[in-house]
Formats: sequence, structure tokens, C-alpha cells
Amino acid sequence: MPSHPNSVTIIGTGSYAPSNVVTNDDMAKIVDTSDEWIRTRSGISARHFAAADETTSDMACAAAERAIEAAGIERNEIDLIIVATMTPDMPFPSTACLIQSKLGLPNVTTFDMQAACSGFVYALSVANSMLLSGNFNKALVIGAEKMSGILDFEDRTTCVLFGDGAGAAVLSAEQTTEKVGILGVLGGADGSNPSLLQQPAGGSAIPATTESIASRQHFLKMNGKEIFKAAVRVMGQASTDIIEQQSYDPEDLNLVIPHQANMRIIESLAKRLSIPMEKFHNNLDRYGNTSAASVPIALDEAYRAGRIQSGDLILLVAFGAGLTWGSTLIKWQ
Ligand code: UT7
Repeated sequence: MPSHPNSVTIIGTGSYAPSNVVTNDDMAKIVDTSDEWIRTRSGISARHFAAADETTSDMACAAAERAIEAAGIERNEIDLIIVATMTPDMPFPSTACLIQSKLGLPNVTTFDMQAACSGFVYALSVANSMLLSGNFNKALVIGAEKMSGILDFEDRTTCVLFGDGAGAAVLSAEQTTEKVGILGVLGGADGSNPSLLQQPAGGSAIPATTESIASRQHFLKMNGKEIFKAAVRVMGQASTDIIEQQSYDPEDLNLVIPHQANMRIIESLAKRLSIPMEKFHNNLDRYGNTSAASVPIALDEAYRAGRIQSGDLILLVAFGAGLTWGSTLIKWQ
């Protein structure tokens, strides 16, 4: 382990989506909606839904295996696992612990973190600090969600928007002559109006009862219009702040990987940064909103598609329930 690492680089990525592809036309058989409405309002054409017996940790392990293979390391070199999810296999133990066992990693510190759709970007920030401390050497950072398990398939305003999947990255602490990899991280939160996007029941506020189940309180609820407005504001601010913090200009960016929630939100971000949509990697049309998995799935796709080269400047930016938001600037190595 380097005694004084000064850089944290992403040395491998992986992703996984369940085989069951559900189109907008399929959704129109469940709720009163149409392919035209979903596509024009959100940009989504299809999403993947996990099988009934396929868990968040199963999807996370599939993505992690690919990331470890891409990193070309021995799995027992990993000494830290952080899993960003708001749909864990169960409230406890953590999904990260279940992944530790499934992957057979005996010497790791593991925990989940919950920052909703910003989770992966938050997790990168935490892993970055832990690796720079010199106490850890290689981290597995995963964003994984089984959103289909908390969707209300009687609520057309939400169930058409989300999908399941997982993305993972292996991070390595390095000693380099100039700083590369994760250049900077930034996060924010405003918890003053949690009901904008929440799963009301299942915690200490509304424990599971027959009433909480009958009144559908265990499903995701969202005020889409208000979330949309907040998303446009905080995605723009989180992006410009991190670019400024690192003394770059938006035109220096080679690629932007934004949270995949709504194409109109992403278009407004492109406009705010005055950079063309070609510099964005989007897969919302095929995945829907996979919450904490959306950024790492898109990152893995972009890398495997040859859209990321050594030396590229890449912006990751996300927002989600809380509200939370976060951004990361990476000099790819
Ligand atoms: O990761 C963060 C999570 N969430 C988000 O980022 C979501 C942010 N918000 C959004 O993406 C958008 O607000 C939505 C896609 C959710 C909605 O788009 P909108 O343009 O804000 O539509 P709206 O909520 O104003 O609804 C317009 C109409 C309504 O009918 P009326 O009241 O005008 O008669 C809705 O009832 O569309 C109706 N509607 C639907 N119609 C067909 C709502 N959902 C559907 C649906 N199919 N699935």
C-alpha cells in the first residue's frame, strides 16, 4: 500500500442489467399510459426489471465481478466495499456485507450508504477520502437498485420512470507525480421537504402495519414537477461549482455523465453549461431511472464504448431524494 497516496484512480468498471426488458408498450398494459407520453415527457423507451428472486446484491455482484475483471486485480486486493442503494436486500445487515460474502472477500471494511440517486457520487467521495487516508488501498464502489420492488404499479406518474440495475467501479490509491483520477468532489443536501420524493413507510416513522400496507405507504411517492425544478437547479449548480473549484471551464470537459432521470433535465444542464449534447453519455432511453445505479452504469457503458481515453476530463453529476446532490471531476488515468 502506498504510504502517502495523492491520487485515487478508477481502474475498472462493470455493470449489469436484468434480462427482462419492459417496453413502454408493456407498461401501457399495466397502467393508463402510452409510449408517446413516456418518451416525450421523460426520454425513456424501456427499462429492465429484475426477476422476483433476483436481489439488489445479486445485481451488484454481477456488476462488481465485471469491474474486478476489468481492473485486472486479484479480488483479495480489495479492502473496502461501499454500496450506494436505497433498495437494499433488507434493512440490515447491509447489502455490502451480503456482497462481501457472495464475492468471497475476507479482509474488507463494508457498508451501505444512502443518498438516493446521488448515492454513487457520494460513495465515490467517501471512498476517495478513505483511500487518500492511506488506510485502504483498493475500493469497490457500487450503485445498485431494485426499484421495481418499491414501485407502485397503480401509480402511472411514477412506475413508468424507474428501472433496475447495478454499476461498479474499482478505485485504487496511487502515488503520482501530478494529481490524476478523482480531482475533486462536492456534495449537498436539503432535507426540508422530504415528501417531494420518498418511501414513507418501513422505517421508525411508519413501521410496517396492515394499515401502512393497505394504504400503499411502502411504495415510492414523488411530486414530479417540484423534483424536476429542483433537479434543474441543483444539477447546474453542482456542475458549475465543481468545475470552478478545480479551475476549469465547461468547455474543457470531454464527457459528462449525468444522473439519468429525465432527458429534459439533462438538456437543460447542457444548456446551462453551454456544451453540446454530444458530450453527454446517456442511456435513459434503455434503462429508465436506476437511481444510484444510473451514473455507474452509464460510466461503464461509456468506457466500454471507447468514449473515455486517458487524460480525459469527466464530470459525474447527480441529484436525488433528500434532496441530495453531488458532483465529481475526474482526470481519467
Ligand atoms: O432521480 C430523481 C427522480 N425523479 C425525477 O427526476 C423526476 C422529475 N420529474 C419529471 O421527470 C417529470 O415531472 C415527470 C416525467 C414525472 C412528469 O412530467 P411533467 O411534464 O411534469 O408532467 P405532469 O406531472 O405535469 O403531468 C402532465 C399530465 C397530467 O395530466 P393533467 O393533470 O394535465 O390532465 C398527468 O396526470 O400527464 C399526466 N400523466 C400521465 N399521462 C400518461 C402523468 N403520468 C402519466 C403517464 N401517462 N405515465
